[in-house]
Amino acid sequence: MSVIKVAILGFGTVGEGFYRTIQSHAEELTAVLGKKVEVAAILIKNKQKKRDISKDVLVTTEFAEILNLPQLDVVVEAIVDKDPTYIFLKKAIERGCHIITANKEMFAHYGEELLELAKKHHVSVGYEATVAGGIPVIQTLRQLLNVNRVQQVQGILNGTSNFILTEMREKKLSFAQALRAAQEKGFAEANPTNDVEGFDAFYKAMILSRLAFGEEPNWHSVERMGITSITSELIHTAERLGLRFKHIASIKKLSHQLKASVKPVLVGNEHPLYHVEGVQNAVNISSDIVGQITLQGPGAGMFPTASAVIEDLVYVCQNRPESQGILSSSETNTAIQEQGQQEETWLIVGLQKNAIDPSIKEIEHVEDETWVAKAKKEEIEELARKHQDLLYFQIIGAFEIEQKPTKIAL
Ligand code: HSE
Repeated sequence: MSVIKVAILGFGTVGEGFYRTIQSHAEELTAVLGKKVEVAAILIKNKQKKRDISKDVLVTTEFAEILNLPQLDVVVEAIVDKDPTYIFLKKAIERGCHIITANKEMFAHYGEELLELAKKHHVSVGYEATVAGGIPVIQTLRQLLNVNRVQQVQGILNGTSNFILTEMREKKLSFAQALRAAQEKGFAEANPTNDVEGFDAFYKAMILSRLAFGEEPNWHSVERMGITSITSELIHTAERLGLRFKHIASIKKLSHQLKASVKPVLVGNEHPLYHVEGVQNAVNISSDIVGQITLQGPGAGMFPTASAVIEDLVYVCQNRPESQGILSSSETNTAIQEQGQQEETWLIVGLQKNAIDPSIKEIEHVEDETWVAKAKKEEIEELARKHQDLLYFQIIGAFEIEQKPTKIAL
């Protein structure tokens, strides 16, 4: 029986999870592919570290040794940094290997280029593990929603942030305690700033945007905010209003541009992302034929991510042409009509009564210096410019401003 030879770059949570899954699911892989899958080499950083790897596998710190193997069919990349990783993958494609990556930062920066190069060399690129962990959202968008025209994608894309917000609410943990727990469980990035400041979700959102809309918004125009300003007090205030903080990435196609944000917002229990808890991620896709669908599942962790990589292994070995899933923006032309700036609902914290601006017409007291207001975003931003310590969060979905605050014990 012929063999598919795979190299794994990186042996952290993702690399090791994939290696172990190849062994635990060897029979299924052989049955689907008609070939045996063998790990030929693993690229590591530190030779001294003890690892549970078979003696038949070349374990090396030199990528060149891997590239020179007599047979190499697939290179799976599970390293953190974008450089020199991108160069490794470029060389692998040029050698005729299919590539699979779990590296969102690298793929957000160089994905388009790698896809083009792969097309030229007639190999495939798997990047399911870059977005939303174990949820097959990339394959759904590129294989199952080919004809649908996507109008909006909204998602919880960072498992660590969602886990922290849930632990703070349910177990009354502090931010630092909840972050430590996320790190212990292997959810957080090596540098958790990427998780809690929204960079990780931003990169994932840009990858989804290219796939769903054939283009990305200008990166500098995307409002990006993490969860570090969310205190236990804010979480409990929200809870008393029947709302939950969720860190949501949203990309909307308007007539002339894409509008995107990655930030904490408040949602009520009728919103599809309200019940997405812990390390779960979810992606809600609105498109013209199917309407709205929500995919939900584990967004981080060893085996959920390994699941995405192993399914990609099947995908690339079946060598789907890389032209699939790369729409030009004109092909996705079902824009939501731009209607000028709309009034939205906001939770405002840190505003004294005598500082309320007359431009905010509808405002209700919640407690202390906390308010719920209906206003345009620019009006709230203007208010925030005048009051430096003011925090404001959008409430998305239905919320009755005049009813909820009265339930609060003042
Ligand atoms: N640190 C990432 C997260 C891992 O928490 O979502 C999965 O991409």
